[in-house]
Amino acid sequence: MRLLLIGPPGCGKGTQAVRLAEHYGVEHISSGDLLRRHVAERTSIGRAAERCMSRGDLVPDGVVMDILRRPVEAAAKRGGYILDGFPRTVQQAESAYLVAKALGASVRIALFLQVSRPELIRRLLDRGARDGRTDDTAEVVNHRLDVFGQLTEPLLDYYSGRETLITVDGDRPVDEVTRSAISQLGAALQHRAGRIEQIG
Ligand code: AP5
Repeated sequence: MRLLLIGPPGCGKGTQAVRLAEHYGVEHISSGDLLRRHVAERTSIGRAAERCMSRGDLVPDGVVMDILRRPVEAAAKRGGYILDGFPRTVQQAESAYLVAKALGASVRIALFLQVSRPELIRRLLDRGARDGRTDDTAEVVNHRLDVFGQLTEPLLDYYSGRETLITVDGDRPVDEVTRSAISQLGAALQHRAGRIEQIG
C-alpha cells in the first residue's frame, strides 16, 4: 500500500492516517510532524522551516524532499506507507513520482479528504484553544486554507489524470470517515487488480 493523503488543513489527514496505517499495517509518515520535530530540536532545517510554518506558508520543496526521502525509502522497503501532508505542490508530486519510480514503487493511490471551509476553521480554532498549536490562530488558519487552494488543490487534477484519485467526504464523524475510506480504497484496489488480470 502506497497512499497519499491530500486535503486542506484540519480535514483529518493526521487522524485518518494513523487509523489507515494501522488497518493496512504500513507506516504513517507526516511531513508536518517531521518538520515540527526539526523545529523543536532547533536543527538547521527546523530554523529554516519555522518562519514559513508560523506564517502558514509552505516550506520550500527542496527542504521537504530532503527530510522525507530517507523515511519514505525505508518504509517502501518494509511494505509501504501512508504519506500525510505530502505532496502539497505539483513540483513535490513530480519529485515523489521520480523517487518512487527509482524504488520500483510508483505511487498509485491519492485520497482526498473533502471538508467545508467553515468546518475546517471550527476544528482548527478548537485545536488551537485546546492544544496551543501556534499555527492554529484565525489569521494563520485562513492563510493556510488560501495556500491550500492556490498551491495544493491543483494536485487533484494532476492525480485524477495519472493515478487513482479517491475523494472521501471528511465532514462526518471520525469512524464514519475511516469506514468510508477503507471501503473506497478496497474498491479501487480490486478494480486495479481486475485491470491487471485482464491485461495479463
Ligand atoms: P501539517 O502538519 O501537515 O498541517 P496541515 O496540513 O495544516 O494539517 P493539520 O495537521 O492542521 O490537519 P489535518 O488535516 O492533519 O487534520 P487533523 O487530523 O490534525 O503542516 C503544517 C505546516 O508544515 C504547513 O503549514 C507547512 O508550513 C509545513 N508543511 C508540512 N508539509 C509540507 C509540505 N509537504 N510542503 C511544504 N510545507 C509543508 O485534525 C485536525 C483537528 O480536527 C483535530 O483536533 C482533530 O481531532 C479534529 N478532527 C479530525 N477529524 C475530525 C472529524 N471527522 N470530525 C471532527 N473533528 C475532527
